[in-house]
Amino acid sequence: MGSSLDLQRKSLVLRQLPSAARVVLAAYLISVGIGYFSALVQLHFQHASAGQFLPGPDEVKTAYGSRPNMGQLERLVLADESRPFNGAGQMREAFFRRAAGWRRDIRELAKEKNVSEDEAEKLIRKHRGLEPDAIVAWIRAGAAKDTYKDSTDAKSYKFVLPEEVASRIPDDAPSDFFKKNEDGKWTANIGEIIDNRCVRCHKPGARGAVGAIQLDEWEKVMDYVAPEGGSGMSLEKLAQSTHVHLLGFAMLYGLTGFIFSFTSYPATIRTVLSPLPLVMQVLEISCWWLARADATFSLGIMAFGGLVALGLGAQIVLGLFDLFDKKGKIVIALLLIAGAASVGVIYTQIIAPHIEHQKSSAIHSAS
Ligand code: HEC
Repeated sequence: MGSSLDLQRKSLVLRQLPSAARVVLAAYLISVGIGYFSALVQLHFQHASAGQFLPGPDEVKTAYGSRPNMGQLERLVLADESRPFNGAGQMREAFFRRAAGWRRDIRELAKEKNVSEDEAEKLIRKHRGLEPDAIVAWIRAGAAKDTYKDSTDAKSYKFVLPEEVASRIPDDAPSDFFKKNEDGKWTANIGEIIDNRCVRCHKPGARGAVGAIQLDEWEKVMDYVAPEGGSGMSLEKLAQSTHVHLLGFAMLYGLTGFIFSFTSYPATIRTVLSPLPLVMQVLEISCWWLARADATFSLGIMAFGGLVALGLGAQIVLGLFDLFDKKGKIVIALLLIAGAASVGVIYTQIIAPHIEHQKSSAIHSAS
């Protein structure tokens, strides 16, 4: 009895498949492995802060969790410059490192004041830092159209700055965007600040995603001023991510899991490991939604996301070894070693220096 069941089960293992089929499966598993690694690299560019390979708890929290109740524009100009330069990270660098003529301004000021470039950068930072503060003050004061700018006179200064910002404007260093009015009060030209710092990229006709976000008129700016409803990702984006993951990735993990379920490993291992990425993904995605209500769930996103990766990695490596006999196993081992070596080289030669570079420029800009 037992032996005939054994035989039946054995007749279903992958090793029995024609070698062409096994090579296809091996190539498939390897492609999935490489694809998954690229997805991690993409995650790095989208969400990791400077100096990190993968996003940490803080980054996951801001991407999915609840946020202080402010509009996207306010959040983006206040967020730390070390965060990625996109809609989930920050636009603060637009006032500094990504401002037109940033290096030139530093060099010129250093020459003019006869100080080092580091000193000059600090001075410019101190003054420019007032620009996002003025924008935020304007938003908190109601972001009224008649305080933005006068369309008949681009050089008008309409917004009277609150004391908290005005008191920090140095008398000796007038900026193009701040001026005292007849009553001796500091005023700001908010429209000019945004035109100068943001519209360079966010203008009609600019290509790609940046061009779709236009800030050249008060009406368009207002689209980004309304509070985001206390949450990171828009509901629309979250719903889209959810279906992309549940349909697309489910297909992928379903296949790798299915392949693994026909390996010759003990039934317990197969029963646990085969559905693991699928189940963990469902839990991870549930946490995306739960994190909107309570940011602690962003830890679940990291934990379950990590288990998806572990499960998939185990399926790929163990699955590959199970497909072939001794000779094939040696080839697989060599391939895996070569793969690990390439990842190592890519990491130390390209990714790590890139992260180091980010880290040092972030420290530089923070000082
Ligand atoms: C150097 C070009 C550049 C400058 C300057 C710039 N941005 Fe951006 N902005 C981007 C890019 C790139 C994105 C990400 C677009 C994407 O992939 O969705 C972005 C995204 C945004 C978004 C997110 C919109 C969304 O729907 O997710 C807002 C809001 C925004 N920028 C506001 C600003 C503000 C305010 C300024 C000025 C302080 C500014 N940007 C300056 C390039 C720029």
